Amino acid sequence: MSSARRLRIGLAAYGTGWDLEAWRLPGATNSGLLDPSVIVDVARIAERGKLDYVFSGSALATEPNRLNRVFRWDNSVYAGTLAAVTEHVGFFPSYNTSFEHPYFVARQIATADRFSAGRIGVNLVYGIDREGGPAGNFGGWPLPGEQSKYDRADEFTEVLFRLLHDSWDHDLLLDDRDGGTLIRPDSWHPIDFVGKHFQVRGPLNAPPPVQRKVPLIHVGESARSLELGIRHAEVRFSPYYGFEEGKRRYQQVKQQVAEAGRDPDKFLIIPGITFFVAGTKREAREKFNEAHRVQTEEVIPAYFSKVFGVDLAGVRASSRAADVLPLERLSGDALKTNRSGGLAREASTVKRGGLDDAHWLHDLLAKRLGEDLTLAELYHAVQSHLHGEQIFVGDTAGFADWLEANFVERVFDGIQLFPPYHRGPADFFVDNVVPELQRRGLFRREYESRLLAENLGIA
Ligand SMILES: Cc1cc2nc3c(=O)[nH]c(=O)nc-3n(C[C@H](O)[C@H](O)[C@H](O)COP(=O)(O)O)c2cc1C
Repeated sequence: MSSARRLRIGLAAYGTGWDLEAWRLPGATNSGLLDPSVIVDVARIAERGKLDYVFSGSALATEPNRLNRVFRWDNSVYAGTLAAVTEHVGFFPSYNTSFEHPYFVARQIATADRFSAGRIGVNLVYGIDREGGPAGNFGGWPLPGEQSKYDRADEFTEVLFRLLHDSWDHDLLLDDRDGGTLIRPDSWHPIDFVGKHFQVRGPLNAPPPVQRKVPLIHVGESARSLELGIRHAEVRFSPYYGFEEGKRRYQQVKQQVAEAGRDPDKFLIIPGITFFVAGTKREAREKFNEAHRVQTEEVIPAYFSKVFGVDLAGVRASSRAADVLPLERLSGDALKTNRSGGLAREASTVKRGGLDDAHWLHDLLAKRLGEDLTLAELYHAVQSHLHGEQIFVGDTAGFADWLEANFVERVFDGIQLFPPYHRGPADFFVDNVVPELQRRGLFRREYESRLLAENLGIA
């Protein structure tokens, strides 16, 4: 394999898989909601596959009815536990800049980076507008509003990294027993940060991380999130926007990174994807269909009934969408006035590229209906746009082809895998797709380093 650019791969690990229906498959393991050994297995699978990192998102809301948010392990404990049973794979625990305090987070990260010998990164999220009322759990805490969340995030990120990297010199341990000096007296530096949201004197009461710079993932889609990312991050975790649009955005982001004086090769663009991959396309499709059978029969007609304001009870999801949906209602204005009806309301929580939510949905539906899709296919197209996730369904070679094409054509630098359920899909990926990527020279055969930043090629 050349030392040139190579694919980065992260694996998201939650108590259940990511797919909202696949947990009902007979082979799925759901005990991971209570039993950490399931997540320990996921980390070991990631390391067996030489993957770059294990990832866990942030959710502070209480959402007992929402499968992938019902419980969330505390990210710092979780990363520390998994680091103790692995040697090379990295971890990106997530923290929410709207609800957490950078001094606490800096302590957690500094500790975890030391305990893992340099394998910790940070993923920062800013959401305050999630369903499930996260603010309800933080009464009396000074929370930013939707408009000021990035002001707080900017301060948070600056404080976090100054505490981590400016607080202490690395040669702090003098250990002069005769002279009676353990810590070199001029080795620590208050950061004296005074901002609108945080006032932090420092230095941090934990030693500096092993890594020269703890890698940062930033999420988000707005210009403001990118500004923050360009200042501090090495990875942009974004939705997958499709091949052409993804390519366009990739170029745009990399250009902005270069204009800011940074090396674009050290700023990775990594979208998330769910996958149903099997030995043959047919098997993969059958698994996907099996997982979504319930959704197909119950959820999909109900969903479109709500959006279009018609009764689709009894209509099969395999029906041709254009035959059963009243197209005359499909105008941007109709969707807008039907905001309370479903689609537009859901979309308003996820904005796409500055387009008005009703209008991008209108464009999407108009375009996809022309492709002669079934109701089920249209539903999945809408869902992946709404939630920014592509679902790949296919065989090993097909998935490797897809990854290769997107990587080589610079739609992305890497991929973050969200297994639909535990444990089969992650094992299948590592045992089948990884060797295929290695054969093609796209992925490492051995870890290059023990440090996360070096394995990611961003040190
Ligand atoms: C790919 C992606 C993943 C995200 N993951 C989380 C998450 O795990 N927890 C969370 O609270 N918010 C998450 N968010 C929400 C962002 O933190 C942010 O609040 C949201 O994208 C709106 O900001 P924006 O307009 O800058 O994109 C995610 C956003 C994106 C795009």
